[in-house]
Amino acid sequence: MSDGAAATADVVIESFLDGDGALAELGREVREGLTRPLRELPPKLFYDDRGSELFERITALPEYYLTRCEREILNRRAPEIVALSGARELVELGSGVASKTRALLFAMAGAGTLRRYVPMDVSGWTVRRCADELAEAYPGLAVHGIVGDFRLHLGRIPAGGRRLVAFLGSTIGNLQPPERARFLAAIAALLDDDDRFLLGVDLVKDVGVLEAAYDDELGVTAEFNRNALLVVNRLLGADFDPRSFAHVAFFDPAQEWIEMRLRSLRPRRVSIPGARLELELAAGEAIRTEVSAKFTPARVERELAAAGMALEELFTDERGWFGLALARRA
Ligand code: SAH
Ligand code: AVI
Repeated sequence: MSDGAAATADVVIESFLDGDGALAELGREVREGLTRPLRELPPKLFYDDRGSELFERITALPEYYLTRCEREILNRRAPEIVALSGARELVELGSGVASKTRALLFAMAGAGTLRRYVPMDVSGWTVRRCADELAEAYPGLAVHGIVGDFRLHLGRIPAGGRRLVAFLGSTIGNLQPPERARFLAAIAALLDDDDRFLLGVDLVKDVGVLEAAYDDELGVTAEFNRNALLVVNRLLGADFDPRSFAHVAFFDPAQEWIEMRLRSLRPRRVSIPGARLELELAAGEAIRTEVSAKFTPARVERELAAAGMALEELFTDERGWFGLALARRA
């Protein structure tokens, strides 16, 4: 049973994140992360309503090339992807406002195969917004929205036939390697023989380009980063002062990932009742809020294979900055 469900004619929304159980789980996760030697917060905390809006602003920034590159690929290759996959249903993990997804839905509608769209996101606001917009844009399209955590709730995705499971935007890069391996194995287990997995990955490139994308001139990414503290304040009753934290973003060549941190400018005691934690932060001490892995094509193929999937095609944009991998269960 879901914690909450709402339905109109063509739209069903199920939520697995409402209620005290989900909040207690978040408290445990935050406590576990903040008591590690390198303190850490889960990146899903960015995405309350304000954070989701800030992310939308990031996607339009001149420095943040990822969205434009992936859109370029999708606009050119969506009909081919749809033909190769034979998809009748689009399942999208971390769907956000699904702006690039529309190229896939358009191609499926053009091929006459579009039956159902299943967006899953931790942000209830974005799931509801895009479910309503798409149901209106495609009369007859069934939309089954899931407000949930793709690390926990893949089992809640409804059974279907010929599904294209899309995970766009390089959100895969926000999972650290052990969790990424577990997640990819869970995707492989979800796929039937006639389903396909479409994975967006940001590719390794010039460090200057990478670092600018996570430290823009206008400071929108800095605000997005600090928003995680506001969310902890609101959900877990903490008393972080986001203004006393500096935004830090750098490329770690050994891990091949961008790391975002928040560095405390002063010594500070922070109380987080919902995580049963009193945090002592030294001046200069940092909390890691996100890793964003960058991939080589070989690594994409290797990680898919290790999870039990076979790469069918890797589409890239003209500069080779971003990749879209189409895979099936091996
Ligand atoms: N797919 C969109 C949005 C990417 S932003 C794009 O390519 O532009 C990452 C999205 O994943 C956000 O909408 C965020 O709310 C969602 N998200 C982050 N962590 C999540 C998690 N653990 N489970 C489900 N959704 C998550
Ligand atoms: C959603 N995710 C892929 C983004 C990224 O690029 O890692 C989140 C983000 N962080 C900073 N800017 C955007």
